[in-house]
Amino acid sequence: MTEVLHTRDDLAKARAALTGTVGVVMTMGALHEGHEALLRVARDQSDHVLVTIFVNPLQFGPHEDFDRYPRTLDADLEICRRAGADLVFAPTVNEMYPDGEQAVRLDPGPLGAEFEGASRPGFFHGVLTVVLKLLNLTRADLAFFGEKDYQQLTLVRRMVRDLAVPVRIVGVPTVREPDGLALSSRNRYLSPAERKAALALSAALRAGAAATGDGGTPEGVLVAANLGFDVASKGAAELDYLVLADPDLEPGPERGPARLLVAARVGTTRLIDNMEIWLG
Ligand code: PAJ
Repeated sequence: MTEVLHTRDDLAKARAALTGTVGVVMTMGALHEGHEALLRVARDQSDHVLVTIFVNPLQFGPHEDFDRYPRTLDADLEICRRAGADLVFAPTVNEMYPDGEQAVRLDPGPLGAEFEGASRPGFFHGVLTVVLKLLNLTRADLAFFGEKDYQQLTLVRRMVRDLAVPVRIVGVPTVREPDGLALSSRNRYLSPAERKAALALSAALRAGAAATGDGGTPEGVLVAANLGFDVASKGAAELDYLVLADPDLEPGPERGPARLLVAARVGTTRLIDNMEIWLG
């Protein structure tokens, strides 16, 4: 049985009745198979699964898609039920932020201003603030985040370490369409032509990964990835960044595990993707 709760009081009561470990999957709704993968891993690793569905205004810029972000609560609840979620917490904006745009927000530090943060000022302040608030409200033992949003996952891990938050963060690999496109709630904005151009992101990552073999240098990987992007996008996707970083997103990896990250605009839709690669 999946219980759906809209207020903090109801959540607190339902949470108090649970014994054993609680795993939380935080989402903004418009659930797809990427979210479902998180739910499955949560089911495997925790006694109870709690899903939060909340389109967080704090993490949207003034010209971003907060108003048009897809809201599909009935379909989302059906997915949560099928996945065997115990509790779904779907609060209103007023329930989460009764004082309006709250004054206290978390500072994500220098990494919060890089990559996604450079294009979306204040984004990670909003993300970390709502993640910590939802961790406090749910009192989850484990929290599951997708590698799809790798910088978000990295910053959440960092926050938990730096602030000694009593939760275990689990990363879940990216779920893709058969042709390589990473699943995203924002894919539904894409026209058929844009959907094709969106393949440039995963094509860039694959081209970069293919250039890592013996003697593959970081520069060589980036050249190959850029070329892969251009060939696949045919000018119909606009690159925002294509970067190589170490697994903690520090710059300048030379050998061993690394992350290749890409962001691009296709029409009015901004998409991101990333892949683990091995240098040398
Ligand atoms: P949202 O974009 O709904 O994503 C919720 C979770 O699903 C995130 O951890 C995200 O990384 C994961 N996810 C999305 N697409 C995925 C895919 N294709 N494969 C694997 N995991 C995927 O990320 C957010 O919401 C918000 O920033 C949130 C953390 C809820 C805070 O508001």
